[in-house]
Amino acid sequence: MRAPLFSKVVVHSFAREIPLRKVPNDDLAKLMDTNDDWIRKRTGIQTRYWVDEPTTTSNLGSASAKKTLALAGCDQVDAIIAATLSPDFNFPGIGVQIQNDLNLDCIPAYDIRNQCSGFLYALEMAGALIETGVYQRILVVGAEVHSTGLDRTTRGRDIAVLFGDGAGSCIVERKDCCHAPGPVFSLLGTELHSDGAFVDQLWCEHPGSAHFPIRVSVDLVEQGKIFPTMNGKLVFEHAVRRMVEVSMSLLGKLNRQPRDLRLIIPHQANLRINSLVAKQLGLDEEQVFNTIQKYGNTTAATIPIGFSHAVEECDLKPGDQILSAAFGSGFTWGAAVFEVVD
Ligand code: UT7
Repeated sequence: MRAPLFSKVVVHSFAREIPLRKVPNDDLAKLMDTNDDWIRKRTGIQTRYWVDEPTTTSNLGSASAKKTLALAGCDQVDAIIAATLSPDFNFPGIGVQIQNDLNLDCIPAYDIRNQCSGFLYALEMAGALIETGVYQRILVVGAEVHSTGLDRTTRGRDIAVLFGDGAGSCIVERKDCCHAPGPVFSLLGTELHSDGAFVDQLWCEHPGSAHFPIRVSVDLVEQGKIFPTMNGKLVFEHAVRRMVEVSMSLLGKLNRQPRDLRLIIPHQANLRINSLVAKQLGLDEEQVFNTIQKYGNTTAATIPIGFSHAVEECDLKPGDQILSAAFGSGFTWGAAVFEVVD
């Protein structure tokens, strides 16, 4: 399996946008048959943030992207790559809305549909476009509004308690053109995978063009077919296995070992998944940077949100090596390795 290794690509100016409404587990227990104890023990989640008024995925993505541009001290990029599973509309995607919100001079706007791996897919694409000289500076955004797409009744409790709203963003840029204030991360390599045999193990079936003669109906809405469903145990097992596998594979291609890592900033689907991944990589719990306790699973936004916090809280030093890994619907999974340059 090929994995692109990069020599000319840096990533910087991580920012986040989190909606104001904090939703503690106890608030969910008022909507469905669940409780704080179950959610904390099985997932690690204590709170998540849900939009409280008409706020869309592109609104959150644009707000985060504005912060990223301010941090980077720039007002123009060559392209946008936006990842989400919860676009404002079936089409078009949110990339064009972010382009318009930010007044970014008719630049190309890509949309990525790889769910929890979406940010890593966007990052690899941005890295490849920079490394090959197509563009010099790309804005990458991961954004989600899950709360309006969840079954907030007991029928949907296995999924509804997991997800939160939010956005994260960064700039991916050619190293020799970068004048951003630190921290700046070299993107050393990425590795991505998919296995569509598991498409129906974590999905949202309706509305979709697979359905004839119409994509959704009142009956299907009443049956809850417009909400996501998941085979939680199967997803859990695959997540642990694949995140470890892809991390070891990419580290090997970069001639590195897990012990070379200062930190992992993984996707946030379940605290127990991340503990098992760390254990199997031979890392200490303190080397795993988790945000799930506060935000739940924000899917494509999770990794850039994690980086935005790590930059503020972790006293990162030049030479620190950082690994990200993610797994999600598709199935899709991947990893990326970074090194702090300043
Ligand atoms: O980012 C995308 C990838 N997503 C993931 O990686 C998620 C992976 N899966 C998971 O994190 C876990 O499978 C869950 C957190 C979703 C579920 O945890 P689990 O330990 O696998 O629980 P379970 O599905 O086996 O359910 C155990 C019990 C069941 O009751 P019975 O059959 O034992 O009576 C469920 O009905 O817990 C029940 N249950 C709940 N109880 C209270 C399921 N959801 C809830 C809930 N509150 N929210």
